Amino acid sequence: MNHSKRISILGIETSCDETSAAVLINGQELKSHIISSQIETHQKYGGVVPEIASREHCVHIGKVVDQALEAANLGFQDLSAIAVTYGPGLVGSLLVGVAGAKAMAYAAGIPLIAVNHLEGHVYANFLEHQDIDFPLLALLASGGHTNLILFKHHLDYEVLGRTRDDAAGEAFDKVARTLGLGYPGGPYIQKAAVIGNPQAYDFPRAMLEPGSFDFSFSGLKSSVLNTLNTARMKEEKININDLAASFQMAVVDVLIRKSLKALDQISVKTFALAGGVAANSVLREALSPALEERKIRFIYPSPVFCTDNGAMIAMAGYYHFLAENKASWKLNAVPGLSL
Ligand code: KG4
Ligand code: ZN
Repeated sequence: MNHSKRISILGIETSCDETSAAVLINGQELKSHIISSQIETHQKYGGVVPEIASREHCVHIGKVVDQALEAANLGFQDLSAIAVTYGPGLVGSLLVGVAGAKAMAYAAGIPLIAVNHLEGHVYANFLEHQDIDFPLLALLASGGHTNLILFKHHLDYEVLGRTRDDAAGEAFDKVARTLGLGYPGGPYIQKAAVIGNPQAYDFPRAMLEPGSFDFSFSGLKSSVLNTLNTARMKEEKININDLAASFQMAVVDVLIRKSLKALDQISVKTFALAGGVAANSVLREALSPALEERKIRFIYPSPVFCTDNGAMIAMAGYYHFLAENKASWKLNAVPGLSL
C-alpha cells in the first residue's frame, strides 16, 4: 500500500483510566477508535486507584494499539507518526503510554509527537466539525481542570481562566460519591437531576473578584456536603434528585456566566465545549440560546469524544505534525503539565 501522500497518525491516550488508541488520516478521517475503559474496576473504590490504573494500562495497551491498527487496516510502516499524551495525568498511567509510544515509534522509524491532554480535549471538536473559524473560545471542564482558553489559531492560545481549587468534574464526582450515586459522578448526577427541582437548594456560585475568569468549585462542593451532613445528623430526609439538580444548576450557572463574561470582552467566531463535563446536556442546552443570540458558532464533541479518548490525541497530534513539533526520544511523562 502506498500512503505517501496521506498523513496517518496513531493517537494514544493513557493519562487516567482509559486506554485508548485511534488512527486518523489527514486530520479528517477517523479510521479506527478503540477505548478500553477501567471504570468498572475503579467503581468499587469510588474513584481511580492510580496503581491499579497503571497496571491495567500495561495489560491493555498492546492489544488496544493492535486493534486500532487492524481496524484501520494499517501497519506501523504505514503511519506518519505516533502521538501520545505526556501530561497532565497520573504519572504511572502516563508513563505506560509514553514508554509504549516511544518504543513503537522508534522501532517503526517514525516521529513521536507529545500531546498535552488538555489541548487534546479541545481538539476533540475538530473530529466532527469541519471549517472551524478562529478566534475560538474553549471552555474545558474535565475531572482535573476547568479552563477558559482563547485560541487565536491552531496551537496558538492563551489561557484566560483556570481552576483555583476543585475542577468542575471533580465537584460532580465528590458530590455523587457522598450521595452514593456511583463513579464517575457527572452522568449519575445528570440522571438524578432530571426529575429534581434545580431551585430547591440555594447553593453558592463563586464568581471570585471582578474581572477574573478563574473558577472555584470547592465552596459549592462543601456547601452541598454540609447540607447533606446536617440533614443526616438531624435525621431529616433529603430529596437526592432536588439536591443533584440544584448542585448541577450551580455548576452550570458559574460555567455559563464566566463564559459569557469572557465573550463580552473578546470577539470570537466560535465557542467550543471540551472535557468530560462538556457531555452534560443541561450545560449544552443552557448555553445554546445565548450563543445563538450573539451569532457565535457553538460546537461540542459527541459524548464519547468529550471524555478521554485516543482520537482527540491523534487530532492534536496531526496539527503538531504539520507544525513539525516532533518530540525527543527522551520524552518523559509530566503529570503536572499545564497549558
Ligand atoms: O475529560 P475527562 O474524561 O477526564 C479528565 O481529563 O479529567 O472528564 C471526566 C469528568 C468526570 O469528573 C466526570 O464526572 C465528568 O467528566 N463528566 C460529567 C458528565 N460526564 C462526565 N460531568 C457532568 N455531566 C456529565 N454528563
Ligand atoms: Zn481528560
